[in-house]
Amino acid sequence: MLEQLEQLFLNFKQALPTLGSSADVLNLKAEYLGKKGSIAQVLKSLKDASPDQRKVLGGRANAVKDEIQTLIVTRLSDLEQEEINRKLASQRIDITLRDSVMAASTNSGGVHPVTLIWHEIEDLFLSMGFEILDGPHVEDEHHNFEALNIPADHPARDMQDTFWFHNPHDQSVDHRHLLRTHTSTVQVRGMSERTPPFRFIAPGKVFRAERTDASHEMVFHQVEGMMVGKDISVSHLIYFMKSILKEIFKREVTIRLRPGFFPFVEPGFELDIHCLICDGKGCSVCKQVGWVELLPCGMVHPNVLTAGGIDPNQYNGYAFGLGLDRLVMMRYGIDDIRHLHSGDLRFVSQFKHY
Ligand code: DAH
Repeated sequence: MLEQLEQLFLNFKQALPTLGSSADVLNLKAEYLGKKGSIAQVLKSLKDASPDQRKVLGGRANAVKDEIQTLIVTRLSDLEQEEINRKLASQRIDITLRDSVMAASTNSGGVHPVTLIWHEIEDLFLSMGFEILDGPHVEDEHHNFEALNIPADHPARDMQDTFWFHNPHDQSVDHRHLLRTHTSTVQVRGMSERTPPFRFIAPGKVFRAERTDASHEMVFHQVEGMMVGKDISVSHLIYFMKSILKEIFKREVTIRLRPGFFPFVEPGFELDIHCLICDGKGCSVCKQVGWVELLPCGMVHPNVLTAGGIDPNQYNGYAFGLGLDRLVMMRYGIDDIRHLHSGDLRFVSQFKHY
C-alpha cells in the first residue's frame, strides 16, 4: 500500500508540470486531494491495516498530502506569473519610440493650411534676403493710422472698420488703442530700427469689424513687406512678387496691375491674380470677375519714410500687403474663407500631417 501511495505521488509530480492553466491544476488537485480523491482512498483503506502499518502509512499519506498542497500553490503562482509575463511581452509599448505613441493615439493632427503657407512664405522671403519681423496685435493709433499718412478724419479710415479699445481717460493719438487693422503697422516700427538698405516682411493676424461672407472674415492674415534703399522701382516689386507667387503655386501665375489708392504709398497699385479656383470663369471667391485682389502695393510715401526716420530725398522703397488667407484659398481650392476659422477637424486634417 505504501508503494501504491508513492506511485500516486509520482504520477502527480509528473502530471503537474504538463498543465498549462490554473483550471487544470485545480482539477488535478480535486483528483488527488478531493473528498473522493486518490489520497482519500488510500486513507480509507487504512482501516484494514495493522496498527504499525497504519502509523507508517498514515504519517506518509499526510506528508504526501501536504507536499501536494504546497506543489499546487507553487504551480498556481508560477502560472499567474507566466500569464503576466506573456501580457507584458505582447502589449509592450516603447513610449520613447515616436511611431508606437502615434499608433496608439487615434488622432494624429495636422498643420493648419494658413500656418503651412505662412511658413513657406517666410522661407521664400528669407531665401531672398528679407528679415522677418513681428508686431503687436494691440496697436496704438499712431502706428496703425497717423504714421501711415492716415490722419483722423481721413476718409481712408472708413476703409478699415476698426475694433477700438475704449479709454475714456486718455484720447491722445499715442494712447488710443485698437486691434491692428493691417500689418502695415510694422512698417514704421521696422524703419525706425534700421538704416537703409533693408528689406523685411511682417506676417501676422489682423482684425476688422466686418460682416463675414465667403471672402471676408473679422480675423485674417496679411504679410506686410517692405524694401527700402536707393533707386528702388516698381519693377523690383513686380519681380519679387512674381517669383513668390510662382513658387507658391508651382506654376506661372497671370497677374495684372491696376492703380489703387492707399495713403501710405504713391503711386499705389492693386496686384490681382487670375482666379485659380474657377480659372477666370467667375466664382464666389473672385466675385464673378475672374480676378482676385491679392496684393495691394506701391512706392512708399515720403511722409511715411519721414515718420520712420528715413530721409525721402536720399532713399525710396516699395511696400506691399499680401492677403495670406486668399493665397491659401487659391492654393487649395477653398471657396469660403470661413472654413479657415471653423475649427472643424475634418477640414484641418486634410492638410499636412505630422
Ligand atoms: N494695409 C493695406 C490694407 O490692409 C494693404 C496695403 C496696401 C499694404 C498697400 C501695403 C501697401 O504695404 O503698399 O488694406
